[in-house]
Amino acid sequence: MILRDLHAKARQALDPVHYDYVAGGAGDERVLADNERAFDRYLLLPRVLRGGERRDTAVDLPGAPGASPVLVAPTAFHRLLHPDGEEATARAAAAEGAVLVTGTASTTAVARVVAAARGRDRAAAVWFQLYPHPRREVTHALVRRAEEAGCTALVVTVDSPAFGRHTRDLRNGFTDLPPGHAAENMRDLPGAPPGALTDIPMSPAVSWADLDDLVRRTALPVLLKGVLHPADARLAVEHGAAGVFVSNHGGRQCDAVPAALDCLPAVAAAVAGRVPVLLDGGVRRGSDIAVALALGASAVGVGRPVVWGLAAEGEPGVRRVLAALREEYDHTLALCGGRRNTDLTRDMVVRKGGTW
Ligand SMILES: Cc1cc2nc3c(=O)[nH]c(=O)nc-3n(C[C@H](O)[C@H](O)[C@H](O)COP(=O)(O)O)c2cc1C
Repeated sequence: MILRDLHAKARQALDPVHYDYVAGGAGDERVLADNERAFDRYLLLPRVLRGGERRDTAVDLPGAPGASPVLVAPTAFHRLLHPDGEEATARAAAAEGAVLVTGTASTTAVARVVAAARGRDRAAAVWFQLYPHPRREVTHALVRRAEEAGCTALVVTVDSPAFGRHTRDLRNGFTDLPPGHAAENMRDLPGAPPGALTDIPMSPAVSWADLDDLVRRTALPVLLKGVLHPADARLAVEHGAAGVFVSNHGGRQCDAVPAALDCLPAVAAAVAGRVPVLLDGGVRRGSDIAVALALGASAVGVGRPVVWGLAAEGEPGVRRVLAALREEYDHTLALCGGRRNTDLTRDMVVRKGGTW
């Protein structure tokens, strides 16, 4: 299995402290484990004899028409994991038609990331993941950088009012980036020197009023990442969000929340098709993508699998991960009698050991 092989190779290639930074989660890593396990609790119920030889798995997302249903979720500090860093990830995502969500906590400035994604024939959209700063002028400056770079949407991470307590990092004493690496998007912003992990803005002071301000200020679509409660999904739409990511940050924030997949049906019901719902956390197989889409997602994000590909083999490794997931998903869609993503409907998923 490609993902498992690349994970093993990455583990060998990486400094053990950096490996733990990526692999680990918060607390006892219960949510981290459950994100993957959740997919074992759902099964697909294929339809048969529907005809149709060709499949089209492209999806129209905000600022990303015709994208792959597999996105690259934002993960921090790629140059820590491979010398080619975020630029390699961007080239691979573009080649595979996958939206890249590049992060505030990137070790390459957003303008260079977007330029790398554009360097190929098949440029894919780059979205900018934003940790909103309690001082709005800092947020505004970050947003301007993303806009000027050519990002086509903003993804505001809302599940991080405080930095997650990552048990392995605390044990390893990993609190600062090593010399030579910095959170480049934070460089020369008012009051935000680069260099330390804790310089990434995370504040409990951020509120819906800050989202309103952001939606007013930018012409870009604004998606929220880290929504688990259906009431917040409803509020997100009311406050002008163009999409909602169901995500528990890959088990890196609160270690007592449900698996992301378990939160998806209620969030999808609350959003009721008004904006796309996306999911990340624990997606490791094409069949996982099919389950998520049948439960109401328009697309899924992958975090750690991309990082393992990058750490193991650089750009070709990321391409292998994205291509494997896309091909496996296409194959699963065929086995389920589907031609389009929307052919996967809620009635085609059952709980293991039961029926509807
Ligand atoms: C090493 C690492 C760094 C991450 N950094 C960020 C980040 O800077 N911003 C963010 O919104 N999410 C971040 N995430 C969360 C991912 O975007 C995503 O929600 C999660 O990894 C999905 O779960 P998966 O790894 O099981 O695919 C990070 C995750 C990992 C593993």
